[in-house]
Amino acid sequence: MSITRRDLLRNIGIAGGTGVMFSSMGALGLNPAALAAQTPPFTPLDKNALRGHGKRSVVVMGGGIAGMTTAYELLKGGYDVTVLEGRDRPGGRNWTVRGGDRYTDLDGNRQRAAFSKGEYMNTGPGRIPQMHVTLDYCKELGVDLEVFNNQNADAFLYREGDHGLDGEAVRHRAAKADVYGYTSELLAKATDQGALDAYVTDSDKEQLIAFLRGFGDLGDKVDGDPAASFAYTGTSRRGYEVQPGAGRESGVETTPYALSDVLASGVGRYFSFEFGFDQAMVMLQPVGGMDRIAYALADAIGRRHFRYGTEVVAYRNTADGVEVSYRQGGATRTITADFAVNTIPPHLAAEIPSNLPSEVIAALRSAQVSNAGKLGIEYDRRWWEEDYRIYGGISNADTDLSNIWHPSYGYHGDKGVMIGYYNTGGDADSYGALTPDRRLQRAVAQGRKIFGDVYTQGITASFSQNWARAPFSEGAWVHWRDQNGADYERLLEPTGNIHFAGDHLSHAIAWQHGAMVSARAVVARIQERVAAS
Ligand code: FAD
Ligand code: PHE
Repeated sequence: MSITRRDLLRNIGIAGGTGVMFSSMGALGLNPAALAAQTPPFTPLDKNALRGHGKRSVVVMGGGIAGMTTAYELLKGGYDVTVLEGRDRPGGRNWTVRGGDRYTDLDGNRQRAAFSKGEYMNTGPGRIPQMHVTLDYCKELGVDLEVFNNQNADAFLYREGDHGLDGEAVRHRAAKADVYGYTSELLAKATDQGALDAYVTDSDKEQLIAFLRGFGDLGDKVDGDPAASFAYTGTSRRGYEVQPGAGRESGVETTPYALSDVLASGVGRYFSFEFGFDQAMVMLQPVGGMDRIAYALADAIGRRHFRYGTEVVAYRNTADGVEVSYRQGGATRTITADFAVNTIPPHLAAEIPSNLPSEVIAALRSAQVSNAGKLGIEYDRRWWEEDYRIYGGISNADTDLSNIWHPSYGYHGDKGVMIGYYNTGGDADSYGALTPDRRLQRAVAQGRKIFGDVYTQGITASFSQNWARAPFSEGAWVHWRDQNGADYERLLEPTGNIHFAGDHLSHAIAWQHGAMVSARAVVARIQERVAAS
């Protein structure tokens, strides 16, 4: 007689209760803790890390999240750390813009953000998944968090063109009800009529149909009428034209779109976004702006270890350490240390004079740079809340706007900043090629198609970022042609006393988590070398 693991657990559960069952699951490697994905293991250094090894110094090139995590963790072990940061603020791509901030990009576009007090825009990172170590640092550094609404059933989906629902802005919930409804109906019919008999047993069929009826909110089977069976005819899930109310007001439901219009619009393709491992609700954001993380790290590192406005202009391995030259004001200075950690984006690091072997420079150069753009628009009233009852979340368009973010903070405030577009690739480039004023004009004309005239009214400030032309970044993030390839592998190894870190050297590219775990790996590596010396 063979017994499955599930049968075994069920029997143990019946005989011994859930406590016994859970411990048996543990023994089988099945309990929830054992199944939870583990963050790459990391043991922070303690104050004895350098005992018996004398003073060790590290110069960190770049004060973004990777550079600051490196510095913060090395300082725990008593290393003598200096961070050289080209910008006049910490955080690198983690940049929150508030009223009064000034910015000039590499095309000479000058902007001065005029956002009202308390309003802000995250130009780079905006959301944090629950499993990212970014949250552990928030906890350790006392950065308060709030929910970031990555998905909102009441936000809009807009598809432009001349097919399906195109040209009409649809609530997520309505589009989703129709997509799930019709696909469930089709699959239920096919299953019931025997089209899947080669793949499923009679009992599977029954279970599948039971699931689909709930998933799609389908009608009953109509005996003798397969075409009428399991019909999707709309559902309250879509929302109401007149909301249910008191007494006899049962509400007026909306009518579904036709099956073929729903399919033609392609609207269903958006729903898989939130299935993404790193895009699933619940997501979080620091209260007051993403740069709360950057400033918390910078504070923990301390001004003594941080030099702002210092642009690295050359770096080299020496016989017993490293030498890094930087420009500050008009002057060029050189600092020496036992190790350097280079967290400058690879495509920029490659172009700074160094004595790195040519294959290492080639490896840095092989990173493929992607662009992204974001536009923040401040309105004098929160019309998305007042008129549309959208509280946070993302509206999505298949136009050049791509993603429109409704703020997940400050609900019912006087004003609010929407992200008017968050786009990537060609759309980011084409907006980026415009002046900030023209970007706003174009985005507002596009947004009007979704939200109506209200999108054009009461704009009190705006700010836009084109990451491809941001000094010290020149891109949003990078991709590797082959993350198992020789170039990537080469950069995971130190070259002499120079180590490399950054989100680009992780499997969480375009996430702060990637920058942090990459930094931790380098810290562990340096400590290993010192301990072995
Ligand atoms: P950087 O932040 O690029 O740090 C490198 C540092 O080096 C910078 O501070 C730079 O100024 C400095 N530097 C460059 N050249 C020199 C030089 N010559 N001398 C001295 N200093 C120099 N992450 C999330 O977690 N959630 C998100 O929602 C998210 N969304 C994003 C959206 C956008 C539009 C972008 C651009 C990024 C987003 N990210 C997100 C990714 C996140 O911002 C990065 O993964 C992370 O900030 C990278 O940190 P880093 O230290 O590796 O790189
Ligand atoms: N982390 C970035 C963001 O969430 C970039 C990204 C987008 C990464 C989509 C994965 C998927 O906006």
